[in-house]
Amino acid sequence: MTTLIDLSPSDMAHRLSDALAVYVDAMRYPRGTEDQRASMWLEHTRRRGWKAVAAIDDSAALDGNDGAGTGALTAAPMVGVAYGYCGAPDQWWQQQVVAGLRRNGADQADIANLMTSYFELTELHIHPRAQGRGLGEALIRRLLDNRGEQHVLLSTPEINGEANRAWRLYRRLGFTDVIRSYYFAGDPRAFAILGRSLPL
Ligand SMILES: CC(C)(COP(=O)(O)OP(=O)(O)OC[C@H]1O[C@@H](n2cnc3c(N)ncnc32)[C@H](O)[C@@H]1OP(=O)(O)O)[C@@H](O)C(=O)NCCC(=O)NCCS
Repeated sequence: MTTLIDLSPSDMAHRLSDALAVYVDAMRYPRGTEDQRASMWLEHTRRRGWKAVAAIDDSAALDGNDGAGTGALTAAPMVGVAYGYCGAPDQWWQQQVVAGLRRNGADQADIANLMTSYFELTELHIHPRAQGRGLGEALIRRLLDNRGEQHVLLSTPEINGEANRAWRLYRRLGFTDVIRSYYFAGDPRAFAILGRSLPL
């Protein structure tokens, strides 16, 4: 059985290698990518409004006789992870998105309207063996529940015909285009920036 839990900053620190393993397997990145991301994921836990959720396989925890409380759950195998935080002007991602909006001709009022109050959905990953069961949607809903921001924004790699589970999920949840085919500084891949108003 799979259970969803919230992760505190210290849970994330303790489970960082498991969370990064889910990320690398889900994104099919080469091994070793974890090491490049670890310090950034930890730094993100200190940002305002940071929240993280995980999907864990609780069969092992429930089998154990040491009590399947929160401690057992936070030790059980992780099959999905998602986190985000409140966007702010000193963040690289916001600066990149604002530059992209300006380049596309958006005026200051439009930019302010979108960027003044948003939750950045930074990471959302389900391990390949657990994909296609609705866990990604469940994590995103839990993460976005009760947020104070007006919008949620995310970036996702451009895929021909929007033909993958991430795109299907975001479209099903009502995310619309903010910027298409955007190149973040230092990354050769094209990304889409998508958003929608909150609450979901
Ligand atoms: C994108 C991603 C997070 C989506 O999570 P997911 O759990 O695979 O997908 P969803 O929550 O949208 O679930 C959709 C599927 O579950 C099925 N489903 C939905 N609710 C269900 C339920 N209650 N029980 C069983 N199946 C269900 C749907 O039929 C759908 O199946 P289909 O895609 O085969 O048609 C995940 O696929 C992933 O990590 N992908 C690789 C990494 C990635 O792209 N991350 C995002 C980068 S920005």
